[in-house]
Amino acid sequence: MSKTKEPPQHVVTRAEELRRLLRHHDYLYYVLDEPEVSDAEYDRLFRELEQVESEYPRLIDSDSPTQRVGATPSERFDRARHLRPMLSLANAFDETEVVAFDLRVKRALGLAPVEELRYVVEPKLDGLACSFLYERGTLVRATTRGDGETGEVVTENARTIKAVPLRLRGDDVPSVLEVRGEVLMHRKDFEKLNVRRQEMGERVFANPRNAAAGSLRQLDPKITATRPLDVFFYDVGDNDLVFASQWEKLSEMKALGFKTAPRSRRVNGVRAALAAHRDLLETRHEVSYEMDGAVIKLDDIDLQLRLGSVARSPRWAIAFKFPPEEATTVVEGIDVHVGRTGTLTPVARLRTVSVGGVRVSSASLHNIDEIERKDVRVGDHVVVHRAGDVIPQVLRVIEDQRPAGARPFRMPKSCPRCGSEVAREEGEVAHRCRNVRCPAQIQGRLTHFASRGAMDIDGLGEKTVSLLLDSGLVSDLSDIYRLDAPSLTRLERMGEKSAKNLVEAIEKSKETTFRRFIVALGIRHVGEHVAGVLSRRFGSPKRLMEASVDELMSVREIGPEVAKAICSFFEVEQNREAVLDLLNQGVRPGAEEGGGEGPFSGKTVVFTGNLESMTREVAKAEVERRGGRASSSVSRKTDLVVAGAGAGSKLDKARGLGVEIVDEKKFRLLLESKGMRKD
Ligand code: IVH
Repeated sequence: MSKTKEPPQHVVTRAEELRRLLRHHDYLYYVLDEPEVSDAEYDRLFRELEQVESEYPRLIDSDSPTQRVGATPSERFDRARHLRPMLSLANAFDETEVVAFDLRVKRALGLAPVEELRYVVEPKLDGLACSFLYERGTLVRATTRGDGETGEVVTENARTIKAVPLRLRGDDVPSVLEVRGEVLMHRKDFEKLNVRRQEMGERVFANPRNAAAGSLRQLDPKITATRPLDVFFYDVGDNDLVFASQWEKLSEMKALGFKTAPRSRRVNGVRAALAAHRDLLETRHEVSYEMDGAVIKLDDIDLQLRLGSVARSPRWAIAFKFPPEEATTVVEGIDVHVGRTGTLTPVARLRTVSVGGVRVSSASLHNIDEIERKDVRVGDHVVVHRAGDVIPQVLRVIEDQRPAGARPFRMPKSCPRCGSEVAREEGEVAHRCRNVRCPAQIQGRLTHFASRGAMDIDGLGEKTVSLLLDSGLVSDLSDIYRLDAPSLTRLERMGEKSAKNLVEAIEKSKETTFRRFIVALGIRHVGEHVAGVLSRRFGSPKRLMEASVDELMSVREIGPEVAKAICSFFEVEQNREAVLDLLNQGVRPGAEEGGGEGPFSGKTVVFTGNLESMTREVAKAEVERRGGRASSSVSRKTDLVVAGAGAGSKLDKARGLGVEIVDEKKFRLLLESKGMRKD
């Protein structure tokens, strides 16, 4: 007799309905960037499907939106041949090279130099190219570019990327379809990942591209699943679809469910193509991912075929690269910072220099391996790079300008903050201060605990934490909940009003979600996403504290490394005590509350001009916390434009489209109104 229950017909129908709905919402969200429902509503549908599938495992379908993560780690990657080679692109570094390319194309086609050819100008995305094979509408294989002929099969990993459709949209799908795209990591996610890795003593990634490649090429798909990868598709390999133009190809791909790069444009003539490139260059920091140029492609596919390729590059396309955002400066010193897990981070103090219009005066050197690899010494002339909001990087040393007597850098043997012994554990790249009571570590833990994504205690930032520690009012997490207004007012620069506000904010933070509480503890490998998974599965701190490695690993999305990290955290008596003490102090981590329908839930908001009361980053984060999405450009999908001082073209565009516009004051009122998401 079969052990699994036979599902009744209405359940079968509902499961199909749920899958259809989830696929539809995935498409709206990931491909069209035009969601119709709040994240909370989406989560509800998702959980309902998970529930049905766990009750009736027979209903599980490998293409179900719930089945993205699941496979077990493999020993190595298999290799597969692409249906057609994945070509590379010839590069151009200035406008004359592009004009020469345009002339070459015309000559080869027998056209007069004055004729204007139609081009599609796409952002050149800086990630790694991958091909995705669909048979009868289902994803069957994903392969990295490799050498262009064959690549590594990374299907299970690619399935964990939400922007990769597991199934094509529509009824009339081609029997075989190979699409190509660029897998990438957004800058903000890259930075977060590096900060986490740095704290954990793991090797940091040099740039978002390496982070994307490293994440996709993981033998354990569960690790890939925790990495925030995204993908934009730009080409079709072998297939039974025929297109007249590149532009049509992009729009057909979109209809089949593939996200294409926004900002691609179709233009007439090389001058217009150069203008489109300039546009991309000028706005390269407004997008959340890295572009390293524009790809200019001849639009007409018949003409493309006539031209063919030479030396593994098509003759009908060219990559017009952006100039590098680099500058040369001098390392004036190397300071060592101590983080919340005791990790020592060397930071280069630089002679201030402008890189891409922004002043840079320091750069993280990450760890001793990085310093040794680049051989950075005090006094060296170095090339620094900065892209968007990413922390500046030291790219390389200009060795022939090294001053005589410059010595290799050595990590301190004792902690620069507390003087305790510094050690480097087997297999780790980081040096750590071993004293769990090191003030720098306590300070880091407290600051993290109070931060926005964690307990969110307004007014308890780095400076206040350090005042509290120095005054002796606080020496560990739960002490925060023992503070009162009279003792706070004794602190330097703390008036009665601020003291009262802080006490209120602390009191308010007691009512929190379990997910935030888990984030606040600062367990290795446990960021917001994993915390959400844990909170749903275990429901309370006591249950989580008792969970064994096996029990943790039975949770989808939790791999061995994360499970071990959680157990080792709770094996430390001090950590268990800290948790119990927090609960005794009245902290009540509750279930997540889903999203209330507030003014931002499900809305797309664009900021323009300067805000006075907060940075744009904070404003965006506030919108996102309330279930909204912040976007950088105005379109008909925009629901609201927040116009600060000096707002320009985006404001005009919003007016033209009839999008609702508010000023900063109104925006603040909206933030304060109800509908705040609890997680
Ligand atoms: S088309 C036949 N389009 O650039 C043309 N490539 O040097 C093949 N890339 O390996 C590529 N953005 O990783 C194309 N919009 C785009 C692209 C793009 C990034 C990368 C891709 C490829 C490399 C070619």
